[in-house]
Amino acid sequence: MTDAPAVYPVPPDFAAKARVNREQYERLYGESIDDPAGFWGRVAARLDWMRAPTKIKDVSYKLDDFHIRWYEDGELNASVNCLDRQLAERGDKTALLFEPDDPNQPARAVSYRELHRRVCKLANALRNLGVRKGDRITIYLPMIPEAAVAMLACARIGAIHSVVFGGFSPNSIADRVSDCQSKLIITADEGVRGGKKIPLKANVDAALKLPGTNTVETVLVVRHTGGAVDMQMPRDRWYEAVVDDQPEQCEPERMNAEDPLFILYTSGSTGKPKGVMHTTGGYLTYVSYTHETVFDLREDDVYWCTADVGWVTGHSYIVYGPLANGATAVMFEGVPNYPDFSRFWQVIDKHKVTLFYTAPTAIRALMREGDGPVKATSRKSLRLLGTVGEPINPEAWRWYNDVVGEGRCPIIDTWWQTETGGILITPLPGAIDAKPGSATKPFFGIRPAIVDANGQILDGATEGNLVLLDSWPGQMRSVYGDHQRFIDTYFKTYPGMYFTGDGCRRDADGYYWITGRVDDVINVSGHRIGTAEVESALVSHPKVAEAAVVGFPHDIKGQGIYAYVTLVAGEADSEDLRKELVAWVRKEIGPVATPDHLQWAPGLPKTRSGKIMRRILRKIAENAPDQLGDTSTLADPSVVESLVKHRRDA
Ligand code: WT7
Repeated sequence: MTDAPAVYPVPPDFAAKARVNREQYERLYGESIDDPAGFWGRVAARLDWMRAPTKIKDVSYKLDDFHIRWYEDGELNASVNCLDRQLAERGDKTALLFEPDDPNQPARAVSYRELHRRVCKLANALRNLGVRKGDRITIYLPMIPEAAVAMLACARIGAIHSVVFGGFSPNSIADRVSDCQSKLIITADEGVRGGKKIPLKANVDAALKLPGTNTVETVLVVRHTGGAVDMQMPRDRWYEAVVDDQPEQCEPERMNAEDPLFILYTSGSTGKPKGVMHTTGGYLTYVSYTHETVFDLREDDVYWCTADVGWVTGHSYIVYGPLANGATAVMFEGVPNYPDFSRFWQVIDKHKVTLFYTAPTAIRALMREGDGPVKATSRKSLRLLGTVGEPINPEAWRWYNDVVGEGRCPIIDTWWQTETGGILITPLPGAIDAKPGSATKPFFGIRPAIVDANGQILDGATEGNLVLLDSWPGQMRSVYGDHQRFIDTYFKTYPGMYFTGDGCRRDADGYYWITGRVDDVINVSGHRIGTAEVESALVSHPKVAEAAVVGFPHDIKGQGIYAYVTLVAGEADSEDLRKELVAWVRKEIGPVATPDHLQWAPGLPKTRSGKIMRRILRKIAENAPDQLGDTSTLADPSVVESLVKHRRDA
């Protein structure tokens, strides 16, 4: 593909009608940087405030005077912004368009009016069950409208939701429930994905037998598949029964802009997942504004983001952003390859989707099946394509552009993180020419910089670590229950700056190219996995003495999980034990953390002070034994030879 273009200009007809064109981008970006408070004060007027904010921004990243406050004297309710204020103009408009896993089951349109009614009823039910402002509620649901209803019902009464992805194991649920001391769990009998059932309620039952979970008083169970579940009265209640006779109006809680809206657990380089905490006013302003601007949203768009609500993408760009904008959002329960590899494109035709947002890993998996499944569909409704979650390789970008979009649709490669709340680096589709593989330019108010290992800011075309020099309203405010960990994790590496954990290159045109994590986090199919979590799952097996986990390049997943395992003295390795350990990790954390490769390691490369040299393990996993670098500082350099000899591709 040597003659493929390096730059894809903004399609002129798209630019002509776009919300933001090239000149406007330059001007607004300048304004947003020169006067952040003025800029974000104007943007906040897009929301309905119960009390309009007069103090817009008060931020200091200084370690001895650290605080992040946006709109601090404002008051609002997120569910009112997503629902009540849409009723006058958009009451009958479809808010959520549910497409079930099985294409032969009917799709269901939920209007703004119906969504409002369902949210109010659940919110009343939660209040009756004793839930109050500030209480934590865990949501463990499949991709069904009740997931959005549950989130918004929490927001309505000021309860803080913690959504746990339906693919996580009982252990992972228990960790998350106990960390934030949840009072109530909302789940379903079962989920279905690709025709396979997921025993959600049984997983909750198993989680609640684990230590630290006895704060949970009530489990609400949505009847979804009708599968058999074990109801433990009085703890477990059918959702329907509890909600049924509730009033259809519910007085919303007045929330301060800086009151927490939700917690979402995400993996870091050390320890257990962190509860990333987002607040109400800044988050909602930021996700609603970015959703409208970055997707160039129009009133009649049908918008589809394929993420799960269990991840931040689902929070910001299925639920809060789109609904705050009065958009129609598709909610898809299934997977891209069920019943066949045309499913995404069939759903696009069925619902006349105009804006489509998915992950590079899905694009790569579908690309492997050839053009046939795409070309069997029309896709003529599409006008914009987006990607999120990991770097996209130029080949996959071009296939998305040429085959899926037939060259008609701008592509937005959106870089952001659970911590950032919303999109920070992305092309605005009517303003910025695309380069395949680059997230391009910062959004309004975002000040990226590239630093070297010492925190020196590097100018011009360069490569290093990506930091952000100033705050934006959607930024996380704390790690739930551990504010010091928030400061230590993000603001200590380079004092005075937010450190993203990503490596990045900037080219001569000022375009940003994210090169991937530079910490001990692996990005598997756009999901973040901490190497420390997989290691601790492995060493909790009685036959494992020690484990080290690294990422390696994987054709479809972006990165795969490569585990080195040292057995307890006297234990013999075997194919059966290898399978047992892989299944063990899957059970301990969930299928997303399944190791792709497990290598027996008689010893691990360590420094004389006992630190595992992951750099060497990464190179072996990458099958690049000629690039190991200096191994002379190892306590026992000979372990490397044996690891190299028995590596994956040797
Ligand atoms: C990490 C954040 C963003 C919501 C979903 C993932 C990687 C994300 C891109 C992109 C290159 C990307 C980064 C980031 N990442 N988007 N467009 N190009 N890398 O959220 O689980 O918090 O993961 O995903 O490494 O740090 P997350």
